[in-house]
Amino acid sequence: QVQPVIMAGGSGTRLWPLSRAAYPKQFLILSGNTSLFQQAAQRLAALASDDLVIAGPDIVGNEEHRFLILDQLRETRLDPRSVLLEPMGRNTAPALTLAALNALQDGQDPVLVVTPADQTVTLAEAFTACLQQAIRQAADGSIVILGITPDRPETGFGYIRSKAAEAGQQGMLVEQFVEKPDADTAQRYLEAGNYFWNSGMFVLRASTWLTALERFRPDILAATRSAWAQRQTDSKFVRPGKAEFAAIPSESVDYAVMERCPGSDITLRMLALDAGWSDLGAWEAVWQVADKDSAGNASQGDAIISDSRNTLVHATSRLVSVVGLSDVVVVETADAVLVSDRARSQDVKKIVARLDAEK
Ligand code: GDD
Ligand code: MG
Repeated sequence: QVQPVIMAGGSGTRLWPLSRAAYPKQFLILSGNTSLFQQAAQRLAALASDDLVIAGPDIVGNEEHRFLILDQLRETRLDPRSVLLEPMGRNTAPALTLAALNALQDGQDPVLVVTPADQTVTLAEAFTACLQQAIRQAADGSIVILGITPDRPETGFGYIRSKAAEAGQQGMLVEQFVEKPDADTAQRYLEAGNYFWNSGMFVLRASTWLTALERFRPDILAATRSAWAQRQTDSKFVRPGKAEFAAIPSESVDYAVMERCPGSDITLRMLALDAGWSDLGAWEAVWQVADKDSAGNASQGDAIISDSRNTLVHATSRLVSVVGLSDVVVVETADAVLVSDRARSQDVKKIVARLDAEK
């Protein structure tokens, strides 16, 4: 039995001004006609085959987004099994723990296919084949993480070094996992050539997650169990106890567990995923995956781009026209406009930090 879990409670601030607290990145349409969250749900549903039954997804998200989650799922005609609603973000380790506790309820111990809600994958068949292999491997109680061949010294990702990374493709044993290294370290890993990025997707039994968390962060497990014990269920919505949830330490899956697995008795394996993966971390990445004209320009919404090169214009509420630009990103919304050097679109987070400070 296979239970998809979509972690959809993040904020995605680097896509400001489109991505907002009330309407974060995963619910936006940034490529194609569906949101990143909808694409994630559809990719998981497509894993079903003659001998593989895939349950409706469990969504772990924020209380504030419950209607967005339901409305967007309805559009894809996918029925969630549960929608686990967090009163506030405590990062992904508590989120996954809620999903594991929920999955273990009926005396089952399903294999969980855990994925972020904010990525794109262009090669659907390669994705399906890789995930189906990961599901088979994770049945034995190991954690199977999906790695991506890196092409730049990105500091926003986890880095994975695995045994026989040069040779085989089959479930390589992870020897080292480093979450979000500094720029020099990331550059060294890229040059070393035997590191992969962590895609943020992984496959494991529900009981495997609880065992690993008990080993490395028993405090998070105990605090999340307390919140779970106080849960209230309202049809598909499940709400952990608010005060208890607030008391859980905020930590990601990567820092809490993945980094600590190598050398422990929790087996962490990696499969290389070669399926046109992008995490759309910033406007630069949105431009990368967008349909572009022969001069490299991409427009979304009502936009006119003239005599420009490698420029992205995203318009939501007005006609936006640009002339003579190179390597620029323009994002227009009803109440805020961003104009940025495309290569520096990561620095949008500085603007968000300033706005937060002025609040
Ligand atoms: N339910 C819930 N609650 N979901 C959350 C929370 C939370 O508090 N925080 C984040 N998420 C969701 C986000 O919406 C996203 O879909 C996913 O969990 C990953 O969170 P991010 O905040 O986007 O993580 P990241 O991008 O900094 O890093 C992770 O992803 C990288 C690949 O994109 C790590 O796993 C890295 O190692 C990895 O390389
Ligand atoms: Mg992310």
